[in-house]
Amino acid sequence: MTASLIRSASPADAAGIAAVHVESWRATYPGMLPDRYLVGLSTAVHERRWRGLLQGPPQRGRRTFVAQAGGEVVGFASCGPQRTGLPGYGGEFYAVYLLDRVQGQGLGRRLLGAMAQGLLADGRGAAVVWVLRDNPSRFFYERLGGALLAEQPLSFAGARLTECAYGWADLLPLARLAADPPVSG
Ligand SMILES: CC(C)(COP(=O)(O)OP(=O)(O)OC[C@H]1O[C@@H](n2cnc3c(N)ncnc32)[C@H](O)[C@@H]1OP(=O)(O)O)[C@@H](O)C(=O)NCCC(=O)NCCS
Repeated sequence: MTASLIRSASPADAAGIAAVHVESWRATYPGMLPDRYLVGLSTAVHERRWRGLLQGPPQRGRRTFVAQAGGEVVGFASCGPQRTGLPGYGGEFYAVYLLDRVQGQGLGRRLLGAMAQGLLADGRGAAVVWVLRDNPSRFFYERLGGALLAEQPLSFAGARLTECAYGWADLLPLARLAADPPVSG
């Protein structure tokens, strides 16, 4: 296995994150999101979006991390203030995506741990994640201690979906999962 590390993302990672974003969405969401939406995903569009998000001062407390292996970005994760109004949870995990070929090696656990560390450093001691009910990755969140909090309908790219929220009332145990030294930035 190639040595891997988790670190805070910089604007120079925009292209790598965009490539993972598009490849991972196309691998994860067939049968959940419309094919035409997945086919139409553009790495150039996502690269511009990620560069914008990563440039300049942290935007509204957002933190983004990358998983790197063999000098290449193979995964990313993003978190910040909760956006959906679930009471008692100040933080939210916005995204965690890995290339297929690096899944099942503990990188998801380390990325979640890095985000928990980041949210705690920002004074947010509890967090939620929203995930499509049909996405088997929701069992990853359950495995890492997330408790099912809520379900709601979601319209996305013309599809009518159901998403569910998992919550961690205390991020400290999750923060200890990050096997790397505390992540800076
Ligand atoms: C979900 C994801 C980030 C998990 O990362 P990963 O590196 O594969 O997971 P890890 O190796 O860190 O696994 C940690 C634990 O969760 C378990 N786990 C991981 N994925 C699981 C799944 N789909 N179902 C059940 N358990 C799962 C592992 O078995 C492991 O358990 P252990 O403690 O008994 O060893 C990754 O599989 C992924 O990118 N999936 C596709 C994208 C996606 O759906 N992202 C979430 C969008 S909301």
